[in-house]
Amino acid sequence: MTTFWSWYISLLTIFTLLALVWLIFATRKGEAKGTTDQTMGHSFDGIEEYDNPLPKWWFLLFIGTLIFAAGYLVVYPGLGNWKGVFPGYEDGWTQVKQWQREVDKAEQQYGPIFARYSAMPIEAVAQDPQALKMGGRLFATYCSICHGSDAKGAVGFPNLTDSNWRWGGEPETIKASILHGRVAAMPAWGEILGDEGVKNVAAYVRQDLAGLKLPVDTKADLAAGKALFASTCTACHGAEGRGTAMMGAPDLTRPGGWIYGSGLTQLQQTIRYGRNGQMPAQQEYLGQDKVHVLAAYVYSLSQQGEQTAGK
Ligand code: HEC
Ligand code: HEC
Repeated sequence: MTTFWSWYISLLTIFTLLALVWLIFATRKGEAKGTTDQTMGHSFDGIEEYDNPLPKWWFLLFIGTLIFAAGYLVVYPGLGNWKGVFPGYEDGWTQVKQWQREVDKAEQQYGPIFARYSAMPIEAVAQDPQALKMGGRLFATYCSICHGSDAKGAVGFPNLTDSNWRWGGEPETIKASILHGRVAAMPAWGEILGDEGVKNVAAYVRQDLAGLKLPVDTKADLAAGKALFASTCTACHGAEGRGTAMMGAPDLTRPGGWIYGSGLTQLQQTIRYGRNGQMPAQQEYLGQDKVHVLAAYVYSLSQQGEQTAGK
């Protein structure tokens, strides 16, 4: 802000406050004590105004707000370039600075703990109850919005508690998924395969690969679907449709791990228009050490999931 505008704003604000002080006392002077039956002589649709003094509570409240305003403008930055005298904020208080301070404080307090876990193998961290608690809290804050608070996913967002992995469930692979993010690219096949082709290959994926029943009235040529699959899909999903973790192409024989639905309509939608699931990279945002603890947390969830599923 230039000096001119700084002064302009400051003087305008101070003048307004002073004017208000003058107004409240000027109008108070000479007023009648106690209530009166006299009216101001105005009449609005038959409603008249008594010439009574301001109620005391109202007057005091008004004075209170003026005092508050003056105190606020001294302590916080509000008058042009004035930085305020909030204790500890000699360079001026802002919400950003306050937030940064809290972050720094937390960093000082927890940074060494995260660093200690970061030096341990992920499997070992996944056995540490305190680390898992910290991981769980991070997950609730940064991941649950997409993966769900129970980490079981939703449409478009993978379940992280089972043994179905798109990019791989090894501890280090999980960490890489979180650290660098993932961008999946399933191309759109509608134009290339045509409507018939999409229907045939969708039916083939659902019945022959995933082992799910087709609705009885399905009209699809499964043999043609199989041939299309072999020529178009195996490059990414593998010869037997078991997926390629390197590309994030999911196993099409395990519909439990699908995220876009296994109904024929949803399958056709996926194949016709393609899909581009994106896991946002956390390296810049959370840093190595926290991601390490998060990876351990996610890994432990999948291990528990496996035990309870008995697989
Ligand atoms: C270039 C590699 C590639 C090719 C070729 C490819 N896919 Fe995919 N496919 C992927 C990737 C990667 C995903 C994951 C997309 C995502 O997570 O957003 C995917 C996802 C899918 C899904 C969704 C699974 C789910 O989680 O719901 C289905 C179904 C599917 N592909 C079927 C096919 C069929 C059928 C073909 C052949 C017509 C095919 N794909 C060809 C890479 C490919
Ligand atoms: C904006 C939504 C979003 C947020 C936030 C998010 N994820 Fe993801 N995540 C995804 C999507 C979408 C995928 C699947 C990408 C794909 O299609 O392959 C994914 C994939 C993953 C995978 C790989 C799963 C597999 O099957 O290989 C892991 C691990 C993961 N996320 C962990 C996390 C963790 C831990 C956090 C919190 C730091 C997080 N995610 C935050 C959307 C999100």
